[in-house]
Amino acid sequence: MSNSLSNLYGGRGIAISTGQGSHVLDTTGRSYIDFFNGHGASLFGHSHPRLIEALEKGTKGVWTSGAGFESPIREELADELGMLLKDGKVYLCNSGTEAIEAALKLSLILRKGRGRILACRRGFHGRTCGALSMTFNPKYKEPFLPMIGKAEHFSIDDIAENIDDNTVAVFIEPVQGEGGVFCIPPETGVKISEACKKNSVLLVTDEIQSGLGRCGAPLASSLTGLDPDIVCLAKGLAGGLPAGAVVWKKELGDFLPHSHGSTYGGNELVANVSLAVLSMVMHSDLPLKAAANGEFFRSLISEIGSSHIKEIRGMGLLNGVELDIPSLPVVKALQNNGLLSLTAGPRTLRFLPSYAADEKDFKDVALILAKTLEEF
Ligand SMILES: Cc1ncc(COP(=O)(O)O)c(C=O)c1O
Repeated sequence: MSNSLSNLYGGRGIAISTGQGSHVLDTTGRSYIDFFNGHGASLFGHSHPRLIEALEKGTKGVWTSGAGFESPIREELADELGMLLKDGKVYLCNSGTEAIEAALKLSLILRKGRGRILACRRGFHGRTCGALSMTFNPKYKEPFLPMIGKAEHFSIDDIAENIDDNTVAVFIEPVQGEGGVFCIPPETGVKISEACKKNSVLLVTDEIQSGLGRCGAPLASSLTGLDPDIVCLAKGLAGGLPAGAVVWKKELGDFLPHSHGSTYGGNELVANVSLAVLSMVMHSDLPLKAAANGEFFRSLISEIGSSHIKEIRGMGLLNGVELDIPSLPVVKALQNNGLLSLTAGPRTLRFLPSYAADEKDFKDVALILAKTLEEF
């Protein structure tokens, strides 16, 4: 193992060499069911033929012309993304935290003169300083205080009543991922949306993990009572390549000229792949299948009957299993038993299967989980 890579990340102890659909192989030839999928970025599974075709097409054209140039592929992608909000305007970037950062700057421009940014307890929005100010978990922020901004955090139930006419924006995940997999109840989402409208406050939904059909609809906002003015996307947006986007209602206005930008945002190589992604999300039944598969998966887990399982939460293919024991050792044991997963906080397991996962995969995963929990 290299001594040169930063020690930021805990070691998983294996190297993934290839992947096909919902399975990957490590460099020793051992196979795993992949319910981790590169932090949820490989939403379509590994080596998806349509994405490979789009990438190959992209390699033959210009890779990065620069955002100021006209670019048919970039413009087509923006038109498709805009349809997520019927007729939205779009900024393209390279990651989730960049999308949040851009949404924050856009909000401050559109509501200049106001002073408050609200976000949810347990929320996770990324790790650049602007995005970090909206992220809740103090462990991510503490080393950088007091230099990062002061968003105000409230429990999901208390957000609506804390919105006032000095509020710029509310940042919210329709389904909290990192924070433990908590779905916003639709009646709470409606209350938050109404309070935002009443006070002309911008509702920014962070769909970086929940979006693009994973939760059962192109945007999980529509399933959780949220009517966003601004939507942030990333992860699956290029099926595992770096991509992010902000989509907002056109009538709100736009960035001021030169108030934001990115060298690689909207580059043609990745835009080709994102366009194939959007066509599958918007014009196929993948989101509906995600909803059905998620329900099937949660019912299988509920049949395990382990005393370690306290609660099963989730929507579509974003699922959490809260345990009465620490989650990290269980994630490691699952990996030893041939299943890749991740944590969502200290006691919750998170499963992010791709659209490629089929009935057999879900059954196999439930068996592996049952067997693994018996080891604890
Ligand atoms: C809801 C949410 N927002 C923002 C981010 C940050 O995205 P990225 O890691 O692409 O910067 C993540 C990443 O896990 C996320 O899940």
